[in-house]
Amino acid sequence: MNLLESIHLDNLPKHVAIIMDGNGRWAKQKGLLRAFGHENGTKSVRTTVESCAKLGIENLTLYAFSTENWNRPKLEVDTLMKLLVHSLKNELKTLQENNIKLNSIGNLNRLPKSIQKELNEVITLTKDNSKMVLTLALSYGSREELINAIKNISDKVKNNTISIDTIDESIINEHLYTHNLPEVDLLIRTSGEHRISNFLLWQIAYAELFFTDVLWPDFTEQHLYEAIISYQKRERRFGKTSEQIKK
Ligand code: IPE
Ligand code: IPE
Ligand code: MG
Repeated sequence: MNLLESIHLDNLPKHVAIIMDGNGRWAKQKGLLRAFGHENGTKSVRTTVESCAKLGIENLTLYAFSTENWNRPKLEVDTLMKLLVHSLKNELKTLQENNIKLNSIGNLNRLPKSIQKELNEVITLTKDNSKMVLTLALSYGSREELINAIKNISDKVKNNTISIDTIDESIINEHLYTHNLPEVDLLIRTSGEHRISNFLLWQIAYAELFFTDVLWPDFTEQHLYEAIISYQKRERRFGKTSEQIKK
């Protein structure tokens, strides 16, 4: 049965975030180099992006490269960067056809200049698209994001543009890379690891978490539907009682 039929289109998560994990293990299981895993992972990116847009998900954020991933062997980092430029060039058409706007979060200055250029070009070319915002988390670390926010807010306090008493959730939100995005409703992690790995720590405070053993290159639209169906079966209480929610 196609799981799509079980999805309630009136109760979709507004923001889905995915920790795309397991490329290396996928390749290893097949006796291939890790690079093949990353290459095949890009196919899952394409199907997931298209499926989310077609369903009507308004925001999709993909964790593509973490601040900690810079510590991987240089060859692997270089391969990932090459794949990224290549994918950005290739996917522009898919983004335009599906009316998807590209966005990015992370310490982008650390990325090679060629990627920054390509990224900015695609962001500019897709800026008026309105069906879905696709955010790529690149050289992203949640702790670094929070440190930057604290520094910027402290600066404003020092210059008297913000008074300490007015610091609240919305001020913090405004100083995060994700300031234009709504809170995460559904966080998916593939590959069987049950951890967050420094991704959107503040933004997932009330997200529903979905872990699957499927390795990222094997992740299909049916797996995405499975995650959304699980999300739709849950009662999000936000600290209240079930009775209050049902009212
Ligand atoms: C996810 O797959 C891709 C990145 C982190 C860039 P991994 O490369 O982490 O694959 P595993 O976890 O080693 O299998
Ligand atoms: C998290 O995966 C980062 C991305 C998916 C980009 P990792 O594979 O780097 O995370 P750990 O090391 O298993 O926590
Ligand atoms: Mg991993």
